[in-house]
Amino acid sequence: MSPSRTMTLAVNGRPRQVAVAANETLLETLRGMGAVEVKSGCEKGDCGACAVLLDGLAVDSCLCLTWTVAQRAVTTVKGLGTAADPHPLQTAFAERGAVQCGYCTPGFIIAAKSLLDNDTDDPGEDEIRYALSGNFCRCTGYNKILDAVTEAAQVLREEAGVQ
Ligand code: FES
Ligand code: FES
Repeated sequence: MSPSRTMTLAVNGRPRQVAVAANETLLETLRGMGAVEVKSGCEKGDCGACAVLLDGLAVDSCLCLTWTVAQRAVTTVKGLGTAADPHPLQTAFAERGAVQCGYCTPGFIIAAKSLLDNDTDDPGEDEIRYALSGNFCRCTGYNKILDAVTEAAQVLREEAGVQ
């Protein structure tokens, strides 16, 4: 067993002290902290289920060693909105039927948030497909997910006063 050391990890704006082994992945740490909205799938960077935002950019948490992300902001899907005040992506996924079993949903929403925040607020289908190409869904057939991201982008542009 790899020795552990204590570090501060800021998840959804809340710093926490955690004991972390040298070979521990961010996925393992987050789930150990109770952030079970971060899903564990392939654990080798193929499925996107474990995606989180790291300083605002989507990463697969199964590929990050936790000790490398000290001082950086980690955001999970729970950090984007609440049931009472959901993010437009969360609303659009629910309303467009882009959620079936829901296992892939946190990763897709994180990948879409990274696209809309960092690349373009008005993505075409090809841009959305490319941004989500690291995420697998076994249920929806993807079209409803594409629709949801397109709709959320429109809502966000309207909220920002950009048509
Ligand atoms: S669990 Fe991380 S990419 Fe699949
Ligand atoms: S909704 Fe079931 S895997 Fe995507």
